[in-house]
Amino acid sequence: MPDLSGKVAIVTGCASGIGAATVRRLAADGAQVLGTDVDADGGEALCKEAAAHFATQDVSDRALWPQIVSTAVERFGRLDILVNNAGIVSAAEDGASIGEVDDATWDRVIAVNLSGTMAGCRAAIPAMANTGGGAIINIASTTALAPLPTDVGYSSSKGAVRVMSKSIATWCAQQGNGIRCNTVIPGATDTGILDSTEAEMPGFKASVASTSPMNRLADPAETAAAIAFLASDECPFMTGAEMLVDGGALSIHPGF
Ligand SMILES: NC(=O)c1ccc[n+]([C@@H]2O[C@H](COP(=O)([O-])OP(=O)(O)OC[C@H]3O[C@@H](n4cnc5c(N)ncnc54)[C@H](O)[C@@H]3O)[C@@H](O)[C@H]2O)c1
Repeated sequence: MPDLSGKVAIVTGCASGIGAATVRRLAADGAQVLGTDVDADGGEALCKEAAAHFATQDVSDRALWPQIVSTAVERFGRLDILVNNAGIVSAAEDGASIGEVDDATWDRVIAVNLSGTMAGCRAAIPAMANTGGGAIINIASTTALAPLPTDVGYSSSKGAVRVMSKSIATWCAQQGNGIRCNTVIPGATDTGILDSTEAEMPGFKASVASTSPMNRLADPAETAAAIAFLASDECPFMTGAEMLVDGGALSIHPGF
């Protein structure tokens, strides 16, 4: 297991799914963790269970990001790890393909998934640089590589997160500030995001699982393990990299 003792982490979207598993994993590996979420009750409960600290945050509120970073630094003395995990799919009753998407749906998914991730990186970098560096892990999706025709905003936001992470990684490397920025690309994972679709379309999860070579969904803890590795000092030459955690789902498509 990577040793994260002495490190301080912020994990967004900590109340559920991959974020919850990441808080548990980073804390188990020795980090002091500040979890954040719009879901205050769920986030509080998870952080209490994992012996982490919690702050309510809507990641799309860009003006709030410096305060979140200050909360971590004031409470724990430094910031070493940022996991930009909070994310949403387009919730549009009339659909979210390019033939259907409305401005509000597009704007919201871009604000949370892309602008929220950018604002987190922008706020965290000076704090990390103050103590010699750190690790940023941004969460994209296989839809960044194999986009969903039914959700143009989500797929676009995740594609942009991939490219933005490389821009941030190369800038930080050129600055020599000791900060690495990498992307984790999960495939279909058994979390709340899929639960909402399952409620509307019973059998959805089983049908997604059946398209995977492993014939199952990922457990969020399996994604958290990749995040913990990238957060650790085990991979000092990895930056601008992408780690697929998709059970081989993209590998069966030519070109990936
Ligand atoms: N589950 C999958 O199949 C899958 C696949 C690829 C990528 N992802 C990505 O993984 C990340 C985590 O998703 P998950 O599957 O764990 O979903 P989830 O719905 O279980 O958890 C997402 C969490 O983010 C929180 N959140 C939503 N909007 C927020 C906001 N504006 N500010 C702060 N918190 C907010 C939610 O309250 C929730 O706790 C997302 O970025 C998602 O796009 C998930």
